[in-house]
Amino acid sequence: MHIAVIGGGPAGLYFALLMQQSDAQHRITVYERNRPDDTFGFGVVFSDETLNAYRQHDEASFEQITAAFAYWDAIEVRYRGETVRSVGHGFAGLARTVLLGILQRRCAELGVELHFQSELAPGAAPDADLVVIADGANSAWREHFRAAFAPRIDFRPNRFAWMGSTTPLPAFTFIFRDTPDGIWNVHAYQYAQGKATWIFESTDETWRRAGLEQADEQASVAYLERAFADDLEGHRLVTNRSVWRQFPIVRCARWVNGNMVLLGDAAHTAHFSIGSGTKLAMEDAIALYRSCRGASTVPETLARYEATRRDEVERTQHAAETSLVWFETVRRYWHMPPVQFAYSLLSRSKQITHENLRLRDPDFVDRAERWFAGGNTAAPMFKPFCLRGLALNNRVVVSPMAQYRATDGAPDDWHLVHLGARAVGGAGLVYTEMTCVAPDARITPGCTGMYRRAHVAAWRRIVDFVHARSAAKICLQLGHAGRKGSTRLGWEGMDQPLEAGNWPLVSASALAYQPGNQVPRAMTRRDMARVAAQFVRATEMAIDAGFDMLELHMAHGYLLASFLSPLTNRRRDNYGGPVENRLRYPLEVFDAVRAAWPMDKPLAVRISAVDWLPDGNQVEDAIAIARAFREHGCDLIDVSAGQTVPEQKPVYGRMFQTPFSDAIRNEVGIATMAVGNITSADQVNTILLAGRADLVALARPHLSDPHFTLNSAAEYGEQSAEWPAPYLPGRDQAFTVRGRAREELSQLRRAARPPSPNRRAPHGDDD
Ligand SMILES: Cc1cc2nc3c(=O)[nH]c(=O)nc-3n(C[C@H](O)[C@H](O)[C@H](O)COP(=O)(O)OP(=O)(O)OC[C@H]3O[C@@H](n4cnc5c(N)ncnc54)[C@H](O)[C@@H]3O)c2cc1C
Ligand SMILES: Cc1cc2nc3c(=O)[nH]c(=O)nc-3n(C[C@H](O)[C@H](O)[C@H](O)COP(=O)(O)O)c2cc1C
Repeated sequence: MHIAVIGGGPAGLYFALLMQQSDAQHRITVYERNRPDDTFGFGVVFSDETLNAYRQHDEASFEQITAAFAYWDAIEVRYRGETVRSVGHGFAGLARTVLLGILQRRCAELGVELHFQSELAPGAAPDADLVVIADGANSAWREHFRAAFAPRIDFRPNRFAWMGSTTPLPAFTFIFRDTPDGIWNVHAYQYAQGKATWIFESTDETWRRAGLEQADEQASVAYLERAFADDLEGHRLVTNRSVWRQFPIVRCARWVNGNMVLLGDAAHTAHFSIGSGTKLAMEDAIALYRSCRGASTVPETLARYEATRRDEVERTQHAAETSLVWFETVRRYWHMPPVQFAYSLLSRSKQITHENLRLRDPDFVDRAERWFAGGNTAAPMFKPFCLRGLALNNRVVVSPMAQYRATDGAPDDWHLVHLGARAVGGAGLVYTEMTCVAPDARITPGCTGMYRRAHVAAWRRIVDFVHARSAAKICLQLGHAGRKGSTRLGWEGMDQPLEAGNWPLVSASALAYQPGNQVPRAMTRRDMARVAAQFVRATEMAIDAGFDMLELHMAHGYLLASFLSPLTNRRRDNYGGPVENRLRYPLEVFDAVRAAWPMDKPLAVRISAVDWLPDGNQVEDAIAIARAFREHGCDLIDVSAGQTVPEQKPVYGRMFQTPFSDAIRNEVGIATMAVGNITSADQVNTILLAGRADLVALARPHLSDPHFTLNSAAEYGEQSAEWPAPYLPGRDQAFTVRGRAREELSQLRRAARPPSPNRRAPHGDDD
């Protein structure tokens, strides 16, 4: 095969060497516009996992890379005058020039033709069977063929510059400084003796306030040397084309165009805060090389490459994006004490969880747990929590789940057993399903209600059971279906209109949920007063039924949510338009309910933080909405997302809605509950300790395991969880069996950790 590679960065060179090594007959040419030792920047970082992949694919370059790098395994976080250290992270640092030198020499040795100072004009396609476009993040080739590759580039708001220093650093070091201009953060790591990368980053506002917009390299250095004098310990900053930049997130709809393929940064970028750009570039090279083996034609190879590689790249890009947002919004975490701040930083991209961190650094996790618990080490999920006069004995919540089993709104034995079993299962708080304030407020004929006197007694029976037979508390979720009402039971056609017996609907605006659904009437002032009174009546009934807490359902496109979202609220009166207006009716209902509900009992609101569409609510709107409810006396925001419109484009994943809870809790200063694809005690503990939520709700996991909390208590050896007396014989066995299973799992995880190929400290001595 004749292969032309445009760009002699890590992606292009590593691919060329792997192909040439596999078959000396290939004719491979690399075109690089720079000279061989001409490079911007300083060091690159790899993790243990990455290095092991290199060993498998080319032992010779692996040996040289590992011989050249500095290895360290600690991370230090310098914040508010304290340094928090965590160990067990396994990184290797290497000068970019050294890495490129190793790859260039290895290519030359294998017979790859390397043309330096050879810039190929975009489109001047060399005569080759395969053209690999590896010309970096600013790829002129990708832009030339943009119709085929459909790139999207998102320039992030923060400013950063890449510099160097000779200051010795014993660890991968994150430095945060609150200066009169704003917060600066530094990502710094030593990659060779006397050489360290220092990346300086701040918000655009801080950067402008610092006067750096007009500053040249010298002036920037002078400013940063002053601001970081203590950390630089008398050493100077070194520059090398250290211009201020904004990080571009590059994504392409397609990586392949005929016999051309995009590789490395040309195809996708990942923010430097997860140190994965070079790793992704070299892993692309490995993946493309593997696709070439066994495929008969170039189109087949490239199709296979794109099909097998995309998921992994998108996962890394997603993690990198979560990570960069943490740095963009670092001010949000400034109220945290150092240990929690460091924990939040380490767990920011979801790749490191509580148990994962415990494997790396048990002492750090112990310290963090002790801080969280206020003395004893205990899994965060078991720490009690109070809202007004309500004391919960742990932080796990059974999220509201419609059962579609009620008759004319009345809950029956099903609800008693369903909610009773989950209360007995150990959760601190159990939610009822959305319980509707009037017959025409129901989603389906099977939904529970709180609108007839008989409902009070039916609910009282359930509440009394929970109080008498478990340590759990119980919260009533009140709602009105709005335009999503008058539909079939969940399993008979979700959101589909009833075949017969439909009732008229109201909503913020006269917009049907989807084409087959009824068009609702836009609410008049009279309608608003009537529905608010229904909420108050239901609240009074909830008092009689003995509920501990109330939540108003203002999420998922139901009536109150329909006012909050600009997608469903098109009103021209003062209940529509900007978010302050869209909030008006939901706040009126909230105030009326708050006035009727006892002062010592908490009142929560569930919102859809985002609508998952560009024209819908975004996290900034959610923050404004949460702030308004806090000012009106709301105790907790239950942070869900979406389901406002059927054409939403949600981005699912583990704990996918938790970032919204994090934003609201830490921006607004209100208690939040996270929910959404949270499935393990490990995730619950991570969310709580990192300060992303105060409570964690699980819905579907409680359908398969009503005893989620008791089982987690057994796993963690937590004595405080209350087991019902008749179940005590099962408790001791569960503690033994689950405790042992947890220990076995951590041993397996420890064994599965990649070996550190070359544990050398930055100074060359063994660590
Ligand atoms: C501030 C910062 C810090 C970073 N830190 C890290 C880190 O710690 N660890 C890490 O792994 N990654 C890091 N990266 C990312 C890393 O630099 C890149 O992701 C990686 O180098 C991508 O490799 P590549 O081969 O795709 O592209 P590049 O390394 O950009 O290589 C592209 C090459 O193509 C050449 N070229 C361009 N156009 C042409 C043309 N028309 N003809 C011929 N040649 C051309 C260029 O001269 C260049 O040599 C960092 C990036 C930044 C911006
Ligand atoms: C069967 C079922 C019924 C649900 N009913 C309600 C409800 O009545 N009110 C509500 O706010 N959310 C409801 N939800 C959403 C859940 O409370 C929760 O937000 C969602 O399922 C995501 O959490 P999970 O990933 O833990 O399941 C329901 C979810 C399920 C699976």
